[in-house]
Amino acid sequence: MKVDVLLGLQWGDEGKGKVVDVLTPHYDVIARFQGGPNAGHTLEFNNIKQVLHTIPSGIFRENKMNVIGNGVVLDPSVFKKEIESISKIGIELGDNLIISKKAHLILPTHRLLDAASEAAKGDTKIGSTLKGIGPTYRDKIGRDGLRVGDLLENFDEKYTRLKTLHIQQLEKFYNFDYQEKLNEFEKEWFEGIEVLKKFQLVNTEHYINNALKTEKSVIAEGAQGTMLDIDFGSYPFVTSSNTICAGACTGLGIAPQKIGKVFGIFKAYCTRVGMGPFPTELFDQDGQNMRDVGNEYGSTTGRPRRCGWIDLVALNYSIMINGVTDLIMMKADVLDDFETIKVATAYKINGETTTEFPYDLSGVDIEPVYEELPGWNSPLTGVTSENEFPDALKNYIKFLEEKTGVPITIVSVGPNRNQTIIRK
Ligand code: GDP
Ligand code: IMO
Ligand code: MG
Repeated sequence: MKVDVLLGLQWGDEGKGKVVDVLTPHYDVIARFQGGPNAGHTLEFNNIKQVLHTIPSGIFRENKMNVIGNGVVLDPSVFKKEIESISKIGIELGDNLIISKKAHLILPTHRLLDAASEAAKGDTKIGSTLKGIGPTYRDKIGRDGLRVGDLLENFDEKYTRLKTLHIQQLEKFYNFDYQEKLNEFEKEWFEGIEVLKKFQLVNTEHYINNALKTEKSVIAEGAQGTMLDIDFGSYPFVTSSNTICAGACTGLGIAPQKIGKVFGIFKAYCTRVGMGPFPTELFDQDGQNMRDVGNEYGSTTGRPRRCGWIDLVALNYSIMINGVTDLIMMKADVLDDFETIKVATAYKINGETTTEFPYDLSGVDIEPVYEELPGWNSPLTGVTSENEFPDALKNYIKFLEEKTGVPITIVSVGPNRNQTIIRK
């Protein structure tokens, strides 16, 4: 058996949570492999709307195992709130969730360092979610981090050592006022630690590889998107982990030849939240319409998402880096009222036209080259099968498949589980 990977091809929020929930009935194990509570994955079914930050999106299906892998960074206070929010709708988590002992812990002081770092950057800030992601991965790579497995031995001593180091940085380097927030964060954090300790803290790499050996099917759920990848995204306006397919290998402990299908998910248009370059961004009424109709506000921070046309230069780059085998197009319904749809098929940089994704998107003058296609001008949200697709939508799909060379196997026409069309 192999591990199928589902990941975002744009700047995040493509609809990963929804599709993982839709696909989960076909899998035994659902695993998160990177990122942390910067993620916000929204699921809608049976009049329930739930946003998940740390817990895999398979949690609402019965008899599935959910795994938080070693590549994830985990904040116990967010974890506790998530468990409580899920239990309100009658789902109790227990044996159906395992957590890697090698996953790194986000400390209260990591969140403060994130805020201090952003404040110090001023105009050049990343627009981080302020969840402590960057500082936690920095400590992991710098070999200073605390792991979930550290909870099991001499934890207080290890915690105090790292906290003291962070306080020195906050005081001496950032001159940052931290005390009040630290008290508040620490209280909920230690409550979260107690909740976390009730779960199975294990070496999830063994669990996943054994699952594959015993013919269990596994899907790995990406967070963020390829354009936010630490190596291949729009650096430095990226997150601090490998969001790409290779991240599933390092973030779960699976060998490259164990990767099966790679589902690449994208919106029928494009969004970005936070700072950084976005070549096809719209500042006009079209962009505002996308935001209004698509309800484009961050699931984690509530910030308005920047909106624009689909960018095939970036999308083809993402497909190449990830080895995407199947494309999934989300939020087609958001374009229902558009007379025409634009697609960026190339960039013009210093008078030269290119389809190759450049080294740097910022600091260069990129003019997208657009092709225009007719819109379908009819509502998609009630559509239940591919046969009901308007011709203009079929044409849009065909155009994208030709330009990417990858089949679009699922089209999403609304936020609900049911509003998902699996193509033949
Ligand atoms: P994720 O981070 O990739 O899981 O995506 P988010 O949950 O942050 O953002 C996607 C948003 O779009 C959520 O509010 C979803 O409920 C919503 N959504 C997902 N698919 C569709 C769709 O096909 N149509 C519409 N209108 N909304 C969708
Ligand atoms: P999901 O999984 C969209 C963005 C932030 C910021 C940059 C760095 O829901 O798609 P960080 O907090 O990681 O240091 O922020 O990355 N970002 C996301 N944007 N969706 C996400 O996750 C994101 N996670 C981080 O807005 O620009
Ligand atoms: Mg999201």
